[in-house]
Amino acid sequence: MGRGHIPAGTGIRSYPIVERYRIVWIWLGDPALADESQIPDLSLVPAEGTGHHNIGNYLNVKCNYLLEIDNLMDLSHVNFIHFGSLGNDSMRAAEVKVTEEEGKVRADLWMPGTLCGFGEMQGQPCDQWNNMVWMQPTSMLLEFGAVPPGEEPIQDPHKYAFHIITPETEHSTHYFYGTSACFSDADASQAKLICDAQTQAFLTEDNPMIEAVEDRMGGAEFWSLRPAILPSDAAGIRVRRRLEQMCRAERARASDRSQ
Ligand SMILES: [Fe+2]
Repeated sequence: MGRGHIPAGTGIRSYPIVERYRIVWIWLGDPALADESQIPDLSLVPAEGTGHHNIGNYLNVKCNYLLEIDNLMDLSHVNFIHFGSLGNDSMRAAEVKVTEEEGKVRADLWMPGTLCGFGEMQGQPCDQWNNMVWMQPTSMLLEFGAVPPGEEPIQDPHKYAFHIITPETEHSTHYFYGTSACFSDADASQAKLICDAQTQAFLTEDNPMIEAVEDRMGGAEFWSLRPAILPSDAAGIRVRRRLEQMCRAERARASDRSQ
């Protein structure tokens, strides 16, 4: 039995933790550098007690976390990887517009005069959009919607999707996802339908491709392979550069503190 004293060498390291937006945020770096103002704004995650939700979904993906971000930031992949489930040929001509503001990278894919890829209007003529917003370091918010051709494209507050990435190892990733939709008791089954559709697409369409890329890379560093960069990769590359800068800046701050 102890006497209330913790013997030297038996202490367990603790980490700063904040719970926000129904998510636990942990800082694994130097505790003195933890800054909860840097937690990304995920206030669109539905609050408890506001209905039936599609949140808290999880997949473990056997890839480096940056490959998962590359995929999510390149929304043109919907027309290829999700062809027939979420995408179709009519969506292929759209060009992505990449912008950056206040630490966020936006990839806007506006697809006028196309056939709706998914949702209530699936298969019908429409103007539709998929806009992905990256928030440092690894959270992404997808705005999606479709309206009859020519109508004002107003973003429905229930049509946001969350993609939150946590590196597990160099070659595996925790992938959390969900949507902002809230359903009443009468429509509770809708939340499960959306969850099942998302999970099916990620599990059977995205993951095999991403994990195959990871395998083909054979553990090599991304840039050492001199990857061919397509216009649709602009947002993913921008995010990679920002993360590289963040890592350098954090290492410099930690180094300054240790001197
Ligand atoms: Fe996908």
